[in-house]
Amino acid sequence: MPQKILLVFGTRPEAIKMLPVAQALRQEPSVEVRICVTAQHRQMLDQVLDLFEERPDYDLDVMTHSQGLEQVTTAVLNGLGRVLDDARPDRILVHGDTTTTMAATLAAFYRRVPVAHVEAGLRSGDPLQPWPEEINRRVTDVVADRFFAPTARSRDNLLKENVPAQAIHVTGNTVIDALLDVVERIRRRPDLVVGLERRFAFLDAKRPILLVTGHRRENFGAPFESLCEAIRDLALSQHIQVVYPVHLNPNVQSAVRRVLGGVTHVHLIEPLDYLPFVYLMMRAHVVLTDSGGIQEEAPSLGKPVFVMRNVTERPEAVEAGTVRLVGTDRERIFNAVSEVLADRAAYERMSRAHNPYGDGKASRRIADILTRGQTSEFLP
Ligand code: UD1
Ligand code: UDP
Repeated sequence: MPQKILLVFGTRPEAIKMLPVAQALRQEPSVEVRICVTAQHRQMLDQVLDLFEERPDYDLDVMTHSQGLEQVTTAVLNGLGRVLDDARPDRILVHGDTTTTMAATLAAFYRRVPVAHVEAGLRSGDPLQPWPEEINRRVTDVVADRFFAPTARSRDNLLKENVPAQAIHVTGNTVIDALLDVVERIRRRPDLVVGLERRFAFLDAKRPILLVTGHRRENFGAPFESLCEAIRDLALSQHIQVVYPVHLNPNVQSAVRRVLGGVTHVHLIEPLDYLPFVYLMMRAHVVLTDSGGIQEEAPSLGKPVFVMRNVTERPEAVEAGTVRLVGTDRERIFNAVSEVLADRAAYERMSRAHNPYGDGKASRRIADILTRGQTSEFLP
């Protein structure tokens, strides 16, 4: 009897990081792969499914406009319970730290279905930053019985919480599998690049690109205003152009459009599909973000990253010097970014390409562990 594995995910970053795992598992004759999307995101999720040419077996379609956390949690709990009754998987795989992750884990626990956690063991140490993600991942790790930790640091975090060592595997982060796949597609297909250049023809070829993303819930309100003001100050005083694909969360949309709408050298655009976004990261001079995934991807591409957070659960690239934490204070962001724009040596120190988060083989390792029980570990 094949092992029935149900992958459950719902947002853009989970899809980017889980579809390489689905594809590695599909190569295993001893595994029957099923996918359930909660659709906590809709358009931002569907574009990733299209890119990897995957169709989910189940779609809970839970997204509503400006949804609250309890709404997403209860919709996923109810919906997934029914899916588990129908699919009867031997285990589910969840990813990371979203509300989908936490609620799917709880739904599986209520049906006594074992949970494996991909990207397990990340910790900022502060329950309120990022919020609610730090608690989502801790809850998930209380329930899970197999842990795919991306780095040695995340394994150590789990060991400190008394997770048995034999249940943890250091695999690297599957986001690097997805990133390298897409970079390769872009490099191999000059026709694709021509199309992308045409699409971004509005960019000024002479101005370096500051690529911005921001969406963290704990920053809504004054911190978000302040970081947008810093971006406006940078656009108006430095020889750069800002490209900001704005997250569809209405709280983000309203603050960004109010402060940055119509500002010279600021391009506010729709969220990009993953392939054009990777292309833009490759073209960017500097990245300014509060995203988790981009903190992992940009160092692989040798791009300096300024992270608009006070703490991070991804300290490896900070220690290596390619990522700097700048919080959300207007002056602090402005000073840190302008200093590196002005100082060539400082810029070069931050743009050393390295891969602390993965080597492109994380999904293969996860498939090996689930089918053969073991594999070699990721070593940066
Ligand atoms: C969520 C996750 C966060 C993750 C982020 C990645 C939680 C609590 N938050 O952020 O951990 O880092 O996704 O992007 O799990 N919307 C659309 N279309 C979409 C997606 C969103 O219209 O495809 C709008 C909807 O109005 C929706 C709102 O954005 O209600 C917020 O979506 P939500 O999934 O709650 O996003 P975040 O919490 O901002
Ligand atoms: N991303 C994308 N289009 C965009 C912005 C980001 O495809 O317009 C990708 C990015 O490369 C990364 C992931 O989405 O892989 C990060 O998602 P997000 O910042 O929404 O979530 P987080 O990583 O913070 O959970």
